[in-house]
Amino acid sequence: QVADSLYIINQFAQQYFAEKLFNSEEGEDIAMSYLKERGFREEVIRKFQIGYCLQDRDAFAKAAIAAQYNPEYLQKSGLIVVRDERPYDNYRGRIIFPIHNQSGKVLGFGARVIGKVDRAPKYINTPENEIYHKSKILYGSYFARQSIDKNDECLLVEGYTDVVSLHQAGIENVVASGGTSLTPDQLRLVKKYTKNLTIIYDGDAAGVKAALRGLDLAIEEGLNVKLVLIPDKEDPDSYVNKIGASAFQDFIKANKKDFILFQVEILLKDAGDDTNKKAALVNQIAETIAKLNKTEDFTKQQDYIRRCADLLRIEEVGLNNLVNKFIR
Ligand code: GTP
Ligand code: MN
Ligand code: MN
Ligand code: MN
Ligand code: MN
Repeated sequence: QVADSLYIINQFAQQYFAEKLFNSEEGEDIAMSYLKERGFREEVIRKFQIGYCLQDRDAFAKAAIAAQYNPEYLQKSGLIVVRDERPYDNYRGRIIFPIHNQSGKVLGFGARVIGKVDRAPKYINTPENEIYHKSKILYGSYFARQSIDKNDECLLVEGYTDVVSLHQAGIENVVASGGTSLTPDQLRLVKKYTKNLTIIYDGDAAGVKAALRGLDLAIEEGLNVKLVLIPDKEDPDSYVNKIGASAFQDFIKANKKDFILFQVEILLKDAGDDTNKKAALVNQIAETIAKLNKTEDFTKQQDYIRRCADLLRIEEVGLNNLVNKFIR
């Protein structure tokens, strides 16, 4: 019951914000011009049902209350906040990205500051409520589903704008985790769509770290994980805008790395000549390879043992024995 009301309120809000983006002077001058400057075209803006919340303190709250929506649920939805017994709009002056579930209903919103981020936070998101569970959401899944089926692959990026820009570039099998590392629930969602997950993260240290986190879980779940690192200071959105759609597609193809082998490379670089560190990393790799066993994919496991032993410059038999110690 609460859930139904929240869906209805979100649908109203989505339409209200889209209308303001397209049909108000403020929306056009401030929000649409910003989106266009960033390279988003009208078609993709409409497709993702992007909107704009006016700067006015309570224009949306007034409209929603006049339309008889329950103030208690409006608060629960995170669209309005009550301070000193007066409601005000939570997303004032922000671009609104609706977040859809798999069947296209709006679960909540991400709301971005316009332009340079001089007032924190850059994004405000819907608070946890009966329908919005951050850890279970993959942004863009509604729009990506068909293409994921067709390609038997799911691309994962960090942000909303990455998803939208890649769609515009003709890459539609893409979803976003929303900045955090992948949660077990998000992994399970991916697995319902496909076994092939390609993570496209920033090439900076934080991006690499985020990509590595939680990925043991993906392997345990039996997903084939690949990784693409975007050059430093760029993200998929900025990079595709910089080099163009077809060069970006080529870049992805040329830079897709197997996740386990990537991990070996990173750890090797990190260990350098330190023999203790190297021993520890061999153990760590063996443990990761052992996890493949749970998926009962013997051939795949043997293949990794061969390739990792090669990279690590150790005997295949030795690594094989070590892997077996981790299998119980
Ligand atoms: P743009 O700057 O508009 O291109 O967005 P971005 O997606 O590139 O942002 P960034 O790489 O900084 O962050 C990736 C994702 O993390 C965003 O899309 C959001 O989902 C989330 N995120 C970033 N900043 C914040 C924040 O201040 N608060 C919250 N709640 N989420 C954030
Ligand atoms: Mn629920
Ligand atoms: Mn980053
Ligand atoms: Mn980014
Ligand atoms: Mn960005």
